[in-house]
Amino acid sequence: ALENDHQRPSYHLTPPANWINDPNGIIHYNGEYHVFYQYNPAGPFHGTIHWGHARSEDLCTWTDEPVALSPDPDGPDRDGCWSGCAVIDTDGTPTIIYTGGRGSEQLPCLATATDETLNSWEKDPENPIISSVPTEPEILGTADWSAEFRDHNVWREDGWWYHLIGAGLQDGGGVVLLYRGETLSEWEYVGPLLSGDYEVPHTVWECPEYLDLGEKDLLHISNYRDVRYVVGEIDLTAPAFTVENEGLLDYGSFYAPQSTTTPDERVLMWGWIKENRPVEAQWNAGWSGALSIPRELSIGSDGDLIQRPAREIADLREELLVARTDTLEAGDRQQLPLTGNAYEIGLTLSRSDSESVFELGCFESPALSEQTRIRWRDDDVVVDRSNATHDPAPETDAVRLPVDQNDELSLRIFIDGSILTVFANDRQCLTTRVYPTRSDADGVSVAVREGTMSIEASAWTLASSYDR
Ligand code: FRU
Repeated sequence: ALENDHQRPSYHLTPPANWINDPNGIIHYNGEYHVFYQYNPAGPFHGTIHWGHARSEDLCTWTDEPVALSPDPDGPDRDGCWSGCAVIDTDGTPTIIYTGGRGSEQLPCLATATDETLNSWEKDPENPIISSVPTEPEILGTADWSAEFRDHNVWREDGWWYHLIGAGLQDGGGVVLLYRGETLSEWEYVGPLLSGDYEVPHTVWECPEYLDLGEKDLLHISNYRDVRYVVGEIDLTAPAFTVENEGLLDYGSFYAPQSTTTPDERVLMWGWIKENRPVEAQWNAGWSGALSIPRELSIGSDGDLIQRPAREIADLREELLVARTDTLEAGDRQQLPLTGNAYEIGLTLSRSDSESVFELGCFESPALSEQTRIRWRDDDVVVDRSNATHDPAPETDAVRLPVDQNDELSLRIFIDGSILTVFANDRQCLTTRVYPTRSDADGVSVAVREGTMSIEASAWTLASSYDR
């Protein structure tokens, strides 16, 4: 049963059961955050997609709401209500723009809220609101799709609405297309804002999002594999994006993220955390996927991106179980008094020299037959999953997070069921999955393998976000 599943997350956003993929339409409205998400109520697989819905006042406690959007058998979203965004129209009406799937078509649709709870939405009878794809550049078509043209990010600036749509290019690579409109239902094509990336062949740049981070602009796209970001300057007239810095938002399982601005002007982002285990295992579990904890994005003094856990997440802390500073030598190992499978660990590490090696063991069974090791060596943090589980099915390859070459490292580590997220130096981020079979695989230890290391550790158990 779902409630006895020790691999199921408790403080990450999940649907009551079944399938979740991208976060959608995240908005703060009437004093509450609303997160919608790609949801299949029929089972834990990507089938006919609806918009699921959850709301929260504090980003810690979430309430499940009824499905917000369902495919209409006679509408342009017959085969799925795919990813999109929510904005407040100039007359105050909450409005969703999403991709409708019908046959081989993917086209934008609009719906407006008919009540304050954001539970009921009325679809525009004129849907789709854009009825064909641009002719320039040539948009990728496949055997299944007349054009790969989907996902929406809309914002208001200088008296106009701007709208990004993700697409693929017929001759390879992905593209972000820019539109402009006087209203949310009438759009004029401006041109391609950014294109490229031939690394992932026949890619679509899914779920593009533009974020104004004050000093700099940020644009990110999901290219089937990673979420790539560029930081620089947007030019909405050319249109063009001048790239000054670029990188990955996460080095592991984090996809198709979407953001919102808080009332106090912070930018918070959620992403979809996929499963790293086969379809049958997801089917047996009765659930698949989760959303990440919210991350706050900002620009550092060096002009590059800063990512840290939203400060609200600290309100989930229940009990401080560890608070200590030790100096360990090669061969030393200490068990931390942590139990359960929902906690946060903060570590400030300082090494004697660049040869030193630190290891945090987590998801450890009593005799260590199951254990995951997070190892800091040189300019790498590696999550070694080779002994993570007795189950032969999940992925157990090592995942790597590059960090700055420095003798100090700060880590914030979040563990929740089968989700493991590492924030390094408030910059780089890695989310991955670990599926121990034993419910007592909940031990945590710190160890030094080479050299000497000063270790400042703190750890808290975290409360569940749900009362289900
Ligand atoms: C990204 C994505 C989007 C699409 C949605 C469908 O994960 O493929 O491009 O709108 O999921 O569920």
